[in-house]
Amino acid sequence: MALKRIKYVSRFAEHLTQADVEAIAEVSQRNNAAREVTGVMASSGRLFYQVLEGPAEVVDALYATIVADPRHTDVLHLRSQSDVATRLFPQWSMHLVNLDDASVLRLAPLRELLTAVVELRELSDRMASSLERALAIELK
Ligand SMILES: Cc1cc2nc3c(=O)[nH]c(=O)nc-3n(C[C@H](O)[C@H](O)[C@H](O)COP(=O)(O)O)c2cc1C
Repeated sequence: MALKRIKYVSRFAEHLTQADVEAIAEVSQRNNAAREVTGVMASSGRLFYQVLEGPAEVVDALYATIVADPRHTDVLHLRSQSDVATRLFPQWSMHLVNLDDASVLRLAPLRELLTAVVELRELSDRMASSLERALAIELK
């Protein structure tokens, strides 16, 4: 079956703790291994970044489940790639990375990147809303 990759960012739900995140990763690792899904789940501050890759139908169904999960909010889809030739994370059923782990210095730029991606997406959402409001007024 064709290989698909989906990535998104989201915000932790209000009361989510690091222990909750670890519990999500544990269940994900078990489920994903059984479904040939691989990927990575990174967190920084109270933001998630996740890459899911696997058989297209499986990844689509999983993404729908994840989007509806109340343990995170403001899920912003970044990109879906169909017919991907190879996996980026073939060894990881779902690797959890805490980008705030100060003992790993090379994670610092990734933290900046994740924050910037979320800020850019929010900005572009606001711009699109302004655009549609302006168009709606113009075309009234
Ligand atoms: C940020 C986030 C990422 C998740 N990633 C996965 C995942 O990769 N695989 C998975 O099976 N569930 C993932 N989940 C959990 C699903 O939403 C859902 O709770 C789970 O698949 C249900 O599994 P169960 O039927 O074994 O209880 C994630 C949840 C959140 C909040």
